[in-house]
Amino acid sequence: MDDKKTGIKQNLTNYGDLGFSTFLRKSFIKGLGYSDAMLDKPIVGIINTFSNYNSCHGNVPELIQSVRAGVLAKGAIPLEFPTISVHEAFTYPTSMYLRNLMAMDTEEMIRAQPMDSCVLIGGCDKTVPAQLMGALSVDKPIVQLVTGPMLTGSHRGERVGACTDCRRLWAKFRADEIDAAEIAEANNQLVPTVGTCGVMGTASTMAMIVETLGLMPPDSSCAPAVSSERRRIAEKTGEIAVEIANVKRRPSNILSKQSFENALIVLLAIGGSTNGLIHLTAIAGRIGIQLDMDSFDALSKNIPVIVDLKPSGEGYMEDLYKAGGLPRILLELKDKLHLDAYTITGKTLGQTIEETNFSWKQNIVKTANDPIYHEGGMAVLKGNLAPNTAIIKQSAASDSLLTHTGRAVVFDGLEDLANRIDKEDLDVNKEDILVLRYIGPKGAPGMPEAGLIPIPKKLAKQGVKDMVRISDGRMSGTASGTIILHVCPEAADGGPLALVKSGDMISLDVGSRSLHLHVNDDELLNRRKSLDLSKFISNRGYKKLYMEHVLQADKGVDFDFLV
Ligand code: FES
Repeated sequence: MDDKKTGIKQNLTNYGDLGFSTFLRKSFIKGLGYSDAMLDKPIVGIINTFSNYNSCHGNVPELIQSVRAGVLAKGAIPLEFPTISVHEAFTYPTSMYLRNLMAMDTEEMIRAQPMDSCVLIGGCDKTVPAQLMGALSVDKPIVQLVTGPMLTGSHRGERVGACTDCRRLWAKFRADEIDAAEIAEANNQLVPTVGTCGVMGTASTMAMIVETLGLMPPDSSCAPAVSSERRRIAEKTGEIAVEIANVKRRPSNILSKQSFENALIVLLAIGGSTNGLIHLTAIAGRIGIQLDMDSFDALSKNIPVIVDLKPSGEGYMEDLYKAGGLPRILLELKDKLHLDAYTITGKTLGQTIEETNFSWKQNIVKTANDPIYHEGGMAVLKGNLAPNTAIIKQSAASDSLLTHTGRAVVFDGLEDLANRIDKEDLDVNKEDILVLRYIGPKGAPGMPEAGLIPIPKKLAKQGVKDMVRISDGRMSGTASGTIILHVCPEAADGGPLALVKSGDMISLDVGSRSLHLHVNDDELLNRRKSLDLSKFISNRGYKKLYMEHVLQADKGVDFDFLV
């Protein structure tokens, strides 16, 4: 037996006798029917994240078949293996709590098993970031394949799709604008097929910024999950996986500070999810690139939102696919991008853009001269309430509230919110600012997407649609409103948010990027003396690891020992 460190002979299990390790491994894999001739070929690992708990990954079995076809056609062996799979609506307390666990699972299984390259099949919000965080830490040749967006449904003549419409219709139900029968009927239409959320939520955002990073096949982020094109993309991904294995093209050969800046530009221009910024920060951190919030905010002032998709605009992902997908957006942004950044195909981003040709008219991807929103989708705020930054998705906020001063109405965590938000005697009016704390990385824990604090029922019934809302949590990329998120440091980490009292005055001024609590420093120092954070400690298992090592939102919520 030769001792080359590729194919089946790499990463040998340690028995103290390498010859025996290879012999034993081959004996076992031959139990699956492989011949010696096959076992001499390079291996492409394929990560299977299918789960009955994850409808966003419902097409993974079919995609694996197509990836296998591409791998076999190029002369390598496809070997599929499972990792955990996390879905937004099926993980308690949150999917974010488990993202780093999935990243560790992905990293260690790629590290441990013999493979020359790996296809990461993900899609739902946390899975793509988790897979890339793990895989980049190993730096083997990898290529990302996403499951693709779901199609839209139809509710009483109106096109609907998860999850902007889930939230919009639920808000109408809370305000008694639609009844129980109608909301139940709509429930059948919001997720009409498998695939990821059909708007510019976190899944779509991540797919598009990972394609921009050059880690996915060109034009592979937007094809619907149930389309034949999605299967062809999977086959192509299998072929690429063999090519990158043969030439040993690793993420470190592709990624640079410039490619991450390209991703940030696209994140802003598509009106992408605020979660995208957290995930991109964590992904960059795995290869030692630090994303700077001040530079991001400076970019934001120069990059308009040009994609007309919900929640910032009107369309759905299937519209963007028909309009030309990410390549059309990249063409429109060409003058702002670093065109010499490399991609998985070995070509630069500029060469990839040069190969595109859009001869048909469409109205989803706008021009910089006629944008959906004149600045980037997000702005970075700072002030004595958020010394280490907070984020607002300004493109999905109400213009009239972007400069606002109001009285704080404070809720301590989700239970307190649930108990009081709809009480008739809640002291709240539409000018107030709703503050929800202890929902940060350590707070809930897992930084739930609860930053879209519901409008108190008594105000919703009066027709109030938006209020300024502040939290140390996250918001679904599919949601909209004047919502300040990711306040750093979080309350559970002793941030100033923990010191706010109902009745304090708070000022937001997005134009000057400020978030200010009108309470003097001496009084804040006094309040800090009675702050007790002892409940944010855990003594066992993954939760102990998580609570002791999780970083704040401005650092990507990764674990300190994995960065
Ligand atoms: Fe999976 Fe939205 S819940 S992408």
